[in-house]
Amino acid sequence: MKDTLILGIESSCDETSVAVVKNGREVLSNVINTQISIHELYGGVVPEIASRNHVENISPVMKEAIKQANIKLDEIDGIACTYGPGLVGALLVGVAYAKALSYASGKPLIATNHIEGHIAANYITYKDLKPPFLTLLISGGNTQLVLVKDYTEFEILGKTRDDAVGEAFDKVARVIGLGYPGGPKMDNLAKQGVPNIELPKVHVDGLDFSFSGLKTAVINLHHKMPDINKANLAASFEKNIAEILIEHTRKAIKETGITKIALAGGVSANSYIRQEFSKLQNEKNIEIYYPELKLCTDNAAMIASAGYYNFIKGNISDLTLNAVPNLKL
Ligand code: KG4
Repeated sequence: MKDTLILGIESSCDETSVAVVKNGREVLSNVINTQISIHELYGGVVPEIASRNHVENISPVMKEAIKQANIKLDEIDGIACTYGPGLVGALLVGVAYAKALSYASGKPLIATNHIEGHIAANYITYKDLKPPFLTLLISGGNTQLVLVKDYTEFEILGKTRDDAVGEAFDKVARVIGLGYPGGPKMDNLAKQGVPNIELPKVHVDGLDFSFSGLKTAVINLHHKMPDINKANLAASFEKNIAEILIEHTRKAIKETGITKIALAGGVSANSYIRQEFSKLQNEKNIEIYYPELKLCTDNAAMIASAGYYNFIKGNISDLTLNAVPNLKL
């Protein structure tokens, strides 16, 4: 059977990325230009600055991705781009670029949901992983437990009612003086501490999550006790989050009978959360999957992989495609 090459384009937040992926699983190139050092100055992503940087970066990143893949643009079978969820101005850069490329080259345009991309990152790391499985999606903008019924068919079993896990990490990090991006900095600091500080565990019904109470409790504690050991606070916060995530995952396993669990999204790069989830593998046939670190945070290879499964399903878009900032799964 002929190989299918998909070009992926990602620009939903502060990473401009273009990738070429073969048959949804084999990465030929995955060029990522991150704007972290620019937004670090402001303590978070400034949407307007992100959009302007995407405009400057997208052509050179695209050229480099084609070069590293060692292919000609003509060999591509389809162009997948993230059209949501994300920052509207940032998304528009990738969508407009993909539409222009599709028009000029005559290659099909594949509108791709960023969340589907995070899930698909697992297909690249695990060549034999096939649906059905459960995904715990933990990123800066989303926290969801998803039943992946098929490559393009999803059911949301539970989601956060307020903050996403990554958002809580970033806000706590900012208040305790770690700066942006908070998640990786909290991860490193927590390794030097012990989880000996009692923090509230917020329970909501069913499989939904809530993290704003925990976030506020940590922030208040830090305000009341500015000399509190920050490493211990970070370790306690991380432990609390990992326990909630594992508790909910167990409930979802019980409800669905599905024991294959794939983590996805930026927070799945967290070393403590990975370590705690891997312990679950010793239990009742539970299998845990997590993308390699480079594929946890935003990148275009995951978009090309998700795009591939939409392409073979015939989900092709026309040039009226627009960015959808609050797109759902
Ligand atoms: O998936 P992602 O790159 O962007 C979204 O699609 O939202 O996730 C970014 C989030 C940020 O909140 C960042 O702080 C968090 O992932 N993150 C981490 C770690 N690495 C990234 N959080 C905890 N520990 C990490 N090691």
